[in-house]
Amino acid sequence: MKIYENIQLNKESNFQHLYIQVYKALKDLMLTGELKKGDKLPPIRKLADLLDVNNVTVVSAYRILEEEGLVYKKIGSGTYVTLNLHDKENYESLPKGIIEEDYIPNSLIEQSHIHIEENMINFASATPSTDLFPVDDFKQVLNEVLDRDKGSAFGYQESQGYYPLRIALKKYIHQYGIHTETSNIHIISGAQQGIDIIAKGILNYGDHVLIENPSYTGAMAVFQSRGAKIIDVALEEDGLNLQDLEKKIVAYQPKLLYIMPNFQNPTGISYSFKKKKEIIKIANKYNVFIVEDDYLSDLNFFANDNATLKSLDTNDIVIYIKSFSKIFMPGLRLGFLVVPRPLFEEVLLAKHATDISTSGLLQRALELYLLKGTWQQHIKYMESQYRQRFEIMIRCIKKYMPQEVKYVLPKGGVNFWFKLPKGLSAKELYEIVTKENIVFAPGNLFFLNNDGLAYFRLSIAAVNEKEIEYGIRKLSELLHNFISQENKVSIPSSQYTPIL
Ligand SMILES: Cc1ncc(COP(=O)(O)O)c(C=O)c1O
Repeated sequence: MKIYENIQLNKESNFQHLYIQVYKALKDLMLTGELKKGDKLPPIRKLADLLDVNNVTVVSAYRILEEEGLVYKKIGSGTYVTLNLHDKENYESLPKGIIEEDYIPNSLIEQSHIHIEENMINFASATPSTDLFPVDDFKQVLNEVLDRDKGSAFGYQESQGYYPLRIALKKYIHQYGIHTETSNIHIISGAQQGIDIIAKGILNYGDHVLIENPSYTGAMAVFQSRGAKIIDVALEEDGLNLQDLEKKIVAYQPKLLYIMPNFQNPTGISYSFKKKKEIIKIANKYNVFIVEDDYLSDLNFFANDNATLKSLDTNDIVIYIKSFSKIFMPGLRLGFLVVPRPLFEEVLLAKHATDISTSGLLQRALELYLLKGTWQQHIKYMESQYRQRFEIMIRCIKKYMPQEVKYVLPKGGVNFWFKLPKGLSAKELYEIVTKENIVFAPGNLFFLNNDGLAYFRLSIAAVNEKEIEYGIRKLSELLHNFISQENKVSIPSSQYTPIL
């Protein structure tokens, strides 16, 4: 039983069911060779006692291992390991894993099923409402660019991006502690494209990528589309679990670690400064490139520190992605990367192969917008608008949310993450609240294995203050009823049901 004594479970985890943690711990023991072909797994009750969990938790973990063909049962004897998983050949030849590979992150399909009508209170979308867009100011810079550059505004732009814009962005990220050369900045058509061209340029079929659990569905979809094997790492209130991270790096030798250190999507959590530094240290130790998706660090309301990882990166190991979608206008499809030197060529070639270049007209307009200082005014305006919503949201959550619903309040950003009491499903709740014209994002969208049925995300990007006040009060009422015994709907025992 010695090897099982080292298994560490996070019983407080808001992010991963215990049976999945047990399953993963056992699989890790197989990957590291501590559990070999023919070894007998402990009797259910014994392991449950040792780990201080329910028998059902161990039964569920064994069942997944069995469904993956990693163990088999001998009637009346016990459960045995089928093969030496640490042999690379065996690992490669395994059928797709239920938890790691079988899930198709079909979030786009799922999200398009979130039917949002005009009169609905939209806590589902993390996209800013269009009334916040600086349309008139942008119209002015567009006209100025057209008068100034005439036809050249419509020519092909360099794949790396319009040079004056890269100069302006170099200055802009100085304030985020990122000191880099213009030659390391690549303009992209939105952060989503950034993730895509990084994956296209760097990953080979079958490479491993580590992500947070839960994570941004758009990134999971990209990595999956490149044939990468996605492995999730436990996420805690102050960032990744470092033991789990290091263990998975050793076991899988990933090419990339994809994370959102500030106001993570979907949980809203921010990494502590200490963890940010530790993660960079670990990445350097094992030579793993970190992809830092900075989709939102600008919206810091109460965090003491929202340093970007890139600002702490002395070894050029962080690929920094900046999106403007949440703070500017998502439809512009503009963002940028800071790319480590060794990856310059791969990323640039991938960008060229994808769309040759981001719209030259829009790049020129953004450059002028930055140059004129209109950008700073706009960010201040967005910050104040979001801050009002953020503060009202926090007040309403504290006032109305049933105490059985668990959450960790974020210190900035737009996302709030909740956990329902045991046995309740956010999908069922979703059905109930949509009838009352409220929508949110069910948590399972953000999990690799379609786990996380107990979670849901509320975003304040697309709702005004009145809607927040009414929406949270109403949602809380519905939640009270939902939680009360007579309305209780239990999650079926097979909690990783296939995605719809
Ligand atoms: C974490 C994260 N990264 C990237 C994106 C995509 O951003 P963009 O609109 O810049 O492509 C989103 C969009 O919601 C996001 O949440």
